[in-house]
Amino acid sequence: MKVLYAASEALPFAASGGLADVAGSLPQALKRRRVDCRVVMPLYGTIRNEFRDTMKFITSIMVPVSWRRQYCGVFEAKAGGVTYYLIDNEYYFKRNTLYGHYDDGERYAFFSRAVLEILPHIDFKPDIIHCNDWQTSLVPVYYTTNYGSREGYTGIKTIVTIHNIQYQGKYGKDILGDVFGLGEETMSLVEFGDCVNLMKGAIECANKVTTVSNTYAEEILDPWFSHGLDPILKARSYKLSGILNGIDTKNYDPETDKDIFFNYSAKEPENKAKNKAALQELFGLPVKEETPVIGIVSRLVSHKGFDLIKRVMWEVLETTDVQLAVLGSGDWEYESFFKEIAAAFPEKVGLRLGFVPDMARKIYAGSDIFLMPSKSEPCGLSQMVALRYGSVPIVRETGGLKDTITDSGDGKGNGFTFKSYDAYDMLDAIRRALAAYSDKKKWATLVKRALKCDNSWGKSAKEYIALYESLISE
Ligand code: GLC
Repeated sequence: MKVLYAASEALPFAASGGLADVAGSLPQALKRRRVDCRVVMPLYGTIRNEFRDTMKFITSIMVPVSWRRQYCGVFEAKAGGVTYYLIDNEYYFKRNTLYGHYDDGERYAFFSRAVLEILPHIDFKPDIIHCNDWQTSLVPVYYTTNYGSREGYTGIKTIVTIHNIQYQGKYGKDILGDVFGLGEETMSLVEFGDCVNLMKGAIECANKVTTVSNTYAEEILDPWFSHGLDPILKARSYKLSGILNGIDTKNYDPETDKDIFFNYSAKEPENKAKNKAALQELFGLPVKEETPVIGIVSRLVSHKGFDLIKRVMWEVLETTDVQLAVLGSGDWEYESFFKEIAAAFPEKVGLRLGFVPDMARKIYAGSDIFLMPSKSEPCGLSQMVALRYGSVPIVRETGGLKDTITDSGDGKGNGFTFKSYDAYDMLDAIRRALAAYSDKKKWATLVKRALKCDNSWGKSAKEYIALYESLISE
């Protein structure tokens, strides 16, 4: 079985969020199960030379972007045993950031066209092209409208995975012909809410639509979560399903992780305490074993639940013996809130604004509790990484958080959860976690249970393979 996995970012080459983790680890898991899965992504200017030096030039072609003909170099690289095709065009991709440019629509129209145009030149005819988010949503649209009946292209099936429905790729209608090169007759496929909506186009055209957890697959049928697309998804619900992400358990392994202070495992968790002391020191907090450390590693944006944290954290810090270790960057509102509490409670709040991957790992390893009260969370990877490092998650029951964390109140769960998007419900979960922490024996059992959770890709890879097989045999 041959699968071409198209993504706008993938580890180890380029990352801005969770998609890169998935695109960097699911293909490996598929490969281990004898699926010939290869990744195609843009060759961004930000990709480091150490990677560039290993890339092999394959060919160059011209790719149509409506009336334009654009240069498209194709490079090949290997990572984790997987073949990557990197699409080169410096005009589109030699920029300081991955997204947020005035011409993103044109950049990813080019990339999506390139995904299809390169096929005859790379000696790889996929059975499935697996697309991700709005950036590659034009692939199923182009396949349906342009390529499906062409020689060398027939019989390919397309899938789109929605990692976050908030980002849909919405453009003015005048862009349809001039940039996307689509005729008026295709308007009904891509038009939504008086815009051209690329994700809507993919939902219409792809053979299957998946999201990254079962709960999110249900949630996005509801307007509270769908950012407008619920009527379309409801109409196409027969092709919609959820498959939970896994994490790369080799990459995230407290037993071998070189970025943490001391290695440990579920069998020998003792060194976790040493990581905690080192973390407290790193963040300039008093080194106290009995004080619970709550870790937060996140983009500081509203949908991660920071409004709840803003509402009650002063109260928590004023009344409780607790420490926070916070790493992230994002909206001014939340950055300044954390600066305020760090200034007001220097002995309790350690803060680093920015994204520092090795520091994230030190927080997973050194914290007792991991707080992730998202308003919505398609899957969420941090809570699974936190479990892997024995930091007990407090989460809101939404999306993948609901599917991976169960409340330990029943004596079996692996964390603390709350339902409503309500600051005092979250506070209650925090209080229950802190109460559990004060019972040393009980807490050690809970940490062990967290460390033993298996969120590796095995199960999910099997589900993707079953989905691919069902499509191929159609
Ligand atoms: C997006 C989602 C996140 C998910 C990730 C990978 O970043 O917001 O919940 O874990 O994609 O699928």
